[in-house]
Amino acid sequence: MTDPAQAVEDPTANWSFETKQIHVGQSPDSATNARALPIYQTTSYTFRDTDHAAALFGLAEPGNIYTRIINPTQDAVEQRVAALEGGVAALLVASGQSAETFAILNIAGAGDHIVSSPRLYGGTYNLFHYTLPKLGIEVSFVEDPDDLEQWRAAIRPNTKALYGETVSNPQNHVLDIPGIAEVGHAEGIPLIVDNTVPTPYLIQPLKHGADIVVHSATKYLGGHGSAIAGVIVDGGTFDWTQGRFPGFTTPDPSYHGAVFADLGAPAFALKARVQLLRDLGAAVSPFNAFLIAQGLETLSLRIERHVQNAQAVAEFLTDRPEVTSVAFAGLPSSPWYERGQQLAPKGASAVIGFELAGGIDAGKRFVNALTLHSHVANIGDVRSLVIHPASTTHSQLTPEEQLAAGVTPGLVRLAVGLEGIEDILADLRVGFAAAGE
Ligand SMILES: Cc1ncc(COP(=O)(O)O)c(C=O)c1O
Repeated sequence: MTDPAQAVEDPTANWSFETKQIHVGQSPDSATNARALPIYQTTSYTFRDTDHAAALFGLAEPGNIYTRIINPTQDAVEQRVAALEGGVAALLVASGQSAETFAILNIAGAGDHIVSSPRLYGGTYNLFHYTLPKLGIEVSFVEDPDDLEQWRAAIRPNTKALYGETVSNPQNHVLDIPGIAEVGHAEGIPLIVDNTVPTPYLIQPLKHGADIVVHSATKYLGGHGSAIAGVIVDGGTFDWTQGRFPGFTTPDPSYHGAVFADLGAPAFALKARVQLLRDLGAAVSPFNAFLIAQGLETLSLRIERHVQNAQAVAEFLTDRPEVTSVAFAGLPSSPWYERGQQLAPKGASAVIGFELAGGIDAGKRFVNALTLHSHVANIGDVRSLVIHPASTTHSQLTPEEQLAAGVTPGLVRLAVGLEGIEDILADLRVGFAAAGE
C-alpha cells in the first residue's frame, strides 16, 4: 500500500479547465520533440520480444498492441476528455452512436433492461427503441423525466442503467442529474448521461452524481465539423460489486479470467476497451483523434462565444411576432431555466428550437432562405447551422414519439455558431421575411 505521507499529488489535477484542455495527455514527443500532438498513423506496434508481447496481451503491462484497441493519438484525447469531465479514464471511439452503444453493452445484455428519458437525439431513440431490443435489451422511456417517481417505478430487478441527455437535443430539457442519480444509486444502478450539448465546460455531470458520461465528440469537442468520433468517460466511483453486474465480478474467460472489478478504478473504461473495442471494433481513426484534439484545445473559448451568440439569438427570436415558442434553457421562460442556472451557471446550450406561427410550410421557407446558416444534420460546428428536425434528424420517429422528444412539426433547430452576431441575426431576418411571404 502507498504511504499517504509519500503519495505524490498529480500536479495537473489542480490545473484550470483552460490549462487542461491544452496540456493534459500530451508533452513533446519523446522520439522527435514534436510539440503538437503527432498523428500515430499506424495499425500496430513492435514488441521488444515474445515476453513483452505476452505481458501486453495479458494486461500485465500497459502498452500499445494494435490500433483497433489503443493508439497514442487516441490516448492523448482520452486523457484530456477524462480530465475535463473529472473522470478517471475515457475511451475514444468511432462515433457518438458507438459511444452510447458501448456504454450500454458494457453493462447490459440479452434479458436486461434500461430506463431512459424520452428527450433524446433521434439516432439515440432509434438505437434504444429498435436496435437494443433486437439484442434482447429492453428500454423503458419515462413519460416525464422530471418526475423522479416515474424513474423509480420503472426500475426492475434486471435494470442495468438509467439514461438521459444532460441538455437534450433539440428541446433544451435540462436533466435532473442529482435526483435521477440518487434514484439509481439507491438500487445499485448507474446513471449514464450524454453530455454532448453542454460539454464539460458548461456541465460536469460526474460532479452532480452521474457515473458514466458519453459524447458525440463530432459536435463541440471537435467543434469544426470535420471529424466523427465519440467518447465514453468513466467516473470511477460506481461500485460494480453491488450485485447487478456479474460481468464485473466474475472471471472473463475471453480475457485470461480477468475480474474487471478487481482491476481498479477505471474498470468500466478498461472493460469497454478490451471486450467491446476488441470484438465490435468501432475504433476511431488516429487522424480523427488528432482533429478532436485540435478542437479540445479551444473548447472553453468556443463554448463561451457559442453561448453568448445563442443567448442573443434566443432573445431576438422571443421578440419576433412570427415565433410562437422558443426552446432554450437560457431564457427565464424555459421550464428548465432554474435547473440550468444550478447545473450550468455559465449557460446550458447553444442549440435553440423554435416554432413559427406558419407551421411546417413557414419553417421550410425559413430554412430554404438562409444563406449564412448551413442547412445540415449537425450541431456544434463553428458555423451556424439550421435544420427542420421533424423531417430529418427525428423523421424515423412517429408523431407521438417526436412530441415526446420535444420535436413539434414546425420546430426549426438552430445550432448557433461563432460568426459575428449581427451577421447571424441579419441572416435570420432574411429567413423571417421568406417565411412570411
Ligand atoms: C446529443 C447527441 N448524442 C449523440 C449523437 C450521435 O453522435 P454521432 O453522430 O457522432 O454518432 C448526436 C448526433 O447528432 C447527438 O446530437
